Amino acid sequence: MTSSHITGPSRDEVQAHRGASAIAPENTLAAFRAAAEQGAKWVELDVALLGDDTLVVIHDDSVDRTTSGTGNLGALTRAEVDRLDAGSWFGSQFAGEKLPTLDEVIAELGQLGLSANVEIKQHPHHKSLDQLVEAVQHAIGKRAAGTNIMISSFDPDCLRAMHALEPDLEMAMLWGRPPEDWEAQLAAIPAKTIHMHFKALSIGLLEETTKKGTKVRAWTCNDPVQLVSFWDAGLTGVITDNPKLFLG
Ligand code: G3P
Ligand code: CA
Repeated sequence: MTSSHITGPSRDEVQAHRGASAIAPENTLAAFRAAAEQGAKWVELDVALLGDDTLVVIHDDSVDRTTSGTGNLGALTRAEVDRLDAGSWFGSQFAGEKLPTLDEVIAELGQLGLSANVEIKQHPHHKSLDQLVEAVQHAIGKRAAGTNIMISSFDPDCLRAMHALEPDLEMAMLWGRPPEDWEAQLAAIPAKTIHMHFKALSIGLLEETTKKGTKVRAWTCNDPVQLVSFWDAGLTGVITDNPKLFLG
């Protein structure tokens, strides 16, 4: 008889993607509160600068998809986005939800006892990488004692610049599928974590990353069955729209 072994991530390794975005409008305070209510300890969120240099939490480079307004972030000010409704597109019960600044989210995470994976998006309207990473550093510097922060990005330059400012933070390189020379690319940042698309996972790669002491988290997976075979091979965590599915 084989011994039964339940595989799955630890509670600390389930990250709510853009908050619990399956049940609340992504990247809003409502989505972060929903993640906490589901029992998540971590949320993933995306940051970008507005035209007036306010750092906000939003995935796209325009407000069109997730708010009542239109326009590229580079053409908008904080006063303008404050007038937008970032909840009604998802459901009428979320009407009036705001597009938050990273400062506002960091304050809320402190209240909720949540930690954050801050994904830095490099958008064409951004004026400089230094300005972007300094804005992130300023906002996360105000976090509560119980809020841990890690940084992720598809852009190695963002991670390199952030690491120079905050050498103690975990840096995660985002790849759809890691390149052949993933180890050299991580060392050049330096970063010790890969966040990769769950469909690109393989036991072989996880055995290799585990041997090298590299963490791997999978995004964005909303079906625990898809990951069952990977936990024992060394998968560290999951980024999901619906943390409840992985929290049992
Ligand atoms: O953290 C992984 C995931 O957030 C990357 O993709 O497009 O949802 O930001 P995206
Ligand atoms: Ca993201």
